[in-house]
Amino acid sequence: MLTEPTAWLACASCAATFAATDPRVRCDCGGLLGVARPSDWHLGLGPALFDARLQSRAAADRSGVWRFREGVLDLPVADLVTRPEGCTPLYRHPRLSAYAGLDDVSFKHEGENPTGSFKDRGMTVAISQARRLGARAVACASTGNTSAALAAYAAQAQLKAVVFLPEGKISSGKLAQTRAYGATCLQIRGDFDAAMALVIEVCDRLGIYLVNSINPFRLEGQKTIVWDLLQDRGWTPPDWIALPAGNLGNTSAFGKALAEAKAAGWISHVPRLAAVQAAGANPFYLSFQGGFAQRHSVTAQTVASAIRIGNPVSYERARAAIAETNGVVCQVSDAELLAAKREIDAAGVGCEPASACALAGVRQLRAAGTIGAHESVVCVLTGHLLKDPDAGGALGEALATPIDATLAAAEHALRHL
Ligand code: F0G
Repeated sequence: MLTEPTAWLACASCAATFAATDPRVRCDCGGLLGVARPSDWHLGLGPALFDARLQSRAAADRSGVWRFREGVLDLPVADLVTRPEGCTPLYRHPRLSAYAGLDDVSFKHEGENPTGSFKDRGMTVAISQARRLGARAVACASTGNTSAALAAYAAQAQLKAVVFLPEGKISSGKLAQTRAYGATCLQIRGDFDAAMALVIEVCDRLGIYLVNSINPFRLEGQKTIVWDLLQDRGWTPPDWIALPAGNLGNTSAFGKALAEAKAAGWISHVPRLAAVQAAGANPFYLSFQGGFAQRHSVTAQTVASAIRIGNPVSYERARAAIAETNGVVCQVSDAELLAAKREIDAAGVGCEPASACALAGVRQLRAAGTIGAHESVVCVLTGHLLKDPDAGGALGEALATPIDATLAAAEHALRHL
């Protein structure tokens, strides 16, 4: 019988620590909080146990988040708010290998989570924690995916949900999901960064539990994207993991997941992270270019609405993740990310525009020689194709004029097939 490992909150900027049941999501000094554990927390845990759980039918074991629960959040399994989520597929396609210029490139499709994005992995944890804390309501600012996940999990947990959305800047699909699941939607005259600053203030003032990725429990759930993909690969790490980078929650979570997997002895080496930004929303790229001497913020503009973010909240932790994994940050133009999306769609995999940054970035890093032709790469596709189907003219040319419902008309229309 394993003893339950304990966990607490630790500030990344000062020495402060808080109980894991403290409702604060930021330190008094303004620093970011992370979940910390004793150094031996992983004793008795590892690939053998996680692989055995894959055979189980229990809800917690069937979740690609809670299968790793000792490294996520210590809660009785009966108290988890789970769909279940995770266990997403790892796709390969010759067309995408050719496009990337790589022998071994695969795609972890986080868009195949219950609400269509990776946000479900963080939200199952944050909402389970919110219920544990007895929160009266939960809130976030969002470009649409976090709000959809929040609304769904809050509905499941019977918690009130409030979302702050940049007016006119989120896709209709994501807005429809968020409203259908019953969240109170406040549109903000301003961009995502303004909505983010506001929700922090509102949560402080009104005692609402904030579940943006500033919330350390969100990141504990998002770590499992990496653990799940390592398990998919039989615990042989790839050379690289590429992902789109916006508010930098995932970049931070991936760094923590890799450091913990290496320290626990689950993997032999740490893959390099490639964080890919849209060129019109590139503050992290600018910092990387300057050797992280300076934090940047920009007024963001890109067709990839999910990552239209100019002042990412998890900057400090993401910077550490890039440094610790010998990672890189690159930027891709809207034309590059839309071209990559067309390839992913045409391979039958499909994703939303922001997700395609991963492949566009990998193609660019391969062309520059940063990624070698024989290195292995996993791209994380963060959102589903149906999330944002008409972005950047992705619906393509208008459908041809309707034809008569006759065999002759169909034969004529298909004469070049
Ligand atoms: N990809 C998608 C599809 C996203 O929705 C997001 C973020 C990201 C990538 C970037 O991830 O913030 O961890 O760097 N969407 C947030 C939202 C901001 O509100 O849904 P990150």
